[in-house]
Amino acid sequence: MKRRIISIDNPKSPIAEAYRGIRTSIEFSDVDKKLKTICITSSHQGEGKSTVIANLAVSFANLDKKVLLLEGDLRNPSVHRMFNISNIHGLTDVLFGKQSFLECVHPTKIKNLNVLTCGATPINPSEMLSSKKMREFIESLKEAYDYIFIDAPPIGIVTDAGIISTYSDGVVFVTGSNEVDTKLANLSKERLEKVNANILGVVLNKLEVNKNSEYQYYNYYYQEQSGRSNKSKKFKIGKN
Ligand SMILES: Nc1ncnc2c1ncn2[C@@H]1O[C@H](COP(=O)(O)OP(=O)(O)OP(=O)(O)O)[C@@H](O)[C@H]1O
Ligand SMILES: [Mg+2]
Repeated sequence: MKRRIISIDNPKSPIAEAYRGIRTSIEFSDVDKKLKTICITSSHQGEGKSTVIANLAVSFANLDKKVLLLEGDLRNPSVHRMFNISNIHGLTDVLFGKQSFLECVHPTKIKNLNVLTCGATPINPSEMLSSKKMREFIESLKEAYDYIFIDAPPIGIVTDAGIISTYSDGVVFVTGSNEVDTKLANLSKERLEKVNANILGVVLNKLEVNKNSEYQYYNYYYQEQSGRSNKSKKFKIGKN
């Protein structure tokens, strides 16, 4: 089933504007121009990782940056459904040397945005993600793209996102409003810290927007987070 990407379908909506707000903040945290590879995770399934990373990829491509959205959730891939493209070939074919990157990468209707889907789901996702081949592949992509956005599984459930974060310059953490399990969120944070992940910020997604609330007019905000990482930001995204 095709999924909706609001930054494409309704770029003037407050939610698309909220994604542009996150984009700006990521750009501002990029003073040393080191943020090129950005991954996303959450504590459990369904909090909105794929939705948020797809919208961010669109938002950055609209800045005339060359962007690749890469499927890094090799257990439950969904990026192909979001863009309504084939998943017959993808990352796993490239890593196995069956196909070249150029044979597998998809252009999209958004200028500057390419997508690499998963391909066949492997039996050993963690091993594939931690392989030397994967690291070298990511390195090679950095020459061709300004930004590489990597979707990832929930780190509270499996450790794959921790692996991906070791070759990502930053990690965006998503929590679904009313879906947060504090224990699992803390475990997720610990897992990311253990691998020295650079947590860029937390997106509170699927926020119920009250008709009279401030979000009607001001759909997102960010603030400095107290504690360990002062540069970590918090964002809110309303419910579609
Ligand atoms: N802001 C939002 N408002 C309403 N629905 C949303 C919002 N964000 C995501 N969703 C919906 O929530 C569901 C889960 O979203 P998504 O697939 O992006 O989550 P995920 O974290 O990637 O899930 P998984 O862990 O299974 O990969 C989808 O049906 C999506 O359309
Ligand atoms: Mg997903």
